[in-house]
Amino acid sequence: MGSVSRDVEDVMIPSIRPMNEGDDIELITDWFESIGSEWLLDYETKPRLRAESRQKLLQWMRGEDGNSCVLLAESREPNEAPPRVIGLAICLLQVDPNTDRKFGTIKGIYVDPAYRGHDVGQTLKEAADEWCRQAGAAFMKAYIGIGNEAMLRVCKLLGYQPWMITMVRKFD
Ligand SMILES: CC(C)(COP(=O)(O)OP(=O)(O)OC[C@H]1O[C@@H](n2cnc3c(N)ncnc32)[C@H](O)[C@@H]1OP(=O)(O)O)[C@@H](O)C(=O)NCCC(=O)NCCS
Repeated sequence: MGSVSRDVEDVMIPSIRPMNEGDDIELITDWFESIGSEWLLDYETKPRLRAESRQKLLQWMRGEDGNSCVLLAESREPNEAPPRVIGLAICLLQVDPNTDRKFGTIKGIYVDPAYRGHDVGQTLKEAADEWCRQAGAAFMKAYIGIGNEAMLRVCKLLGYQPWMITMVRKFD
């Protein structure tokens, strides 16, 4: 994955808001399913029914236990065209079983390929971290696939430090 070159005019500040029942659940399910296929190992992905993905997203969106939220980025289109949903971030609040401390993670973050490289991912991630902080997280953890330079850069820009590396050995 190469680096992205752009100038300041390329930066787009999207508006961020929680997903709601009126949003296009099919589009958002497509995005959620494509995140997994890009970065998970083959033996980690269980063939998940689309209906299950949709159900999970709706559950996180409703966040009835106060531990989840789905944030959407919307573009501000020129000429007063209606705003477009261009990205999502799924925020989860978890509890460390050893310390009982709460921490935040992002179950997935995705920007519409047509809008990548304009700071949308960074704006979404910052909003997602802030949601977790407000919900009581003492810190954030990020799990990033080796080679996902874009996500590594987003996290570094927000002050994340590398902490542990997960090594995998496959048995045939
Ligand atoms: C990861 C992702 C959300 C980033 O979104 P984005 O809107 O393109 O990112 P931004 O424009 O905010 O970029 C933030 C920084 O990363 C850099 N960057 C973006 N894409 C990059 C790439 N492919 N390689 C290297 N750096 C990259 C940008 O240049 C910017 O750094 P800078 O400010 O120092 O120039 C997006 O690439 C994506 O949706 N990927 C597929 C899903 C995924 O991998 N999700 C993460 C795992 S859950």
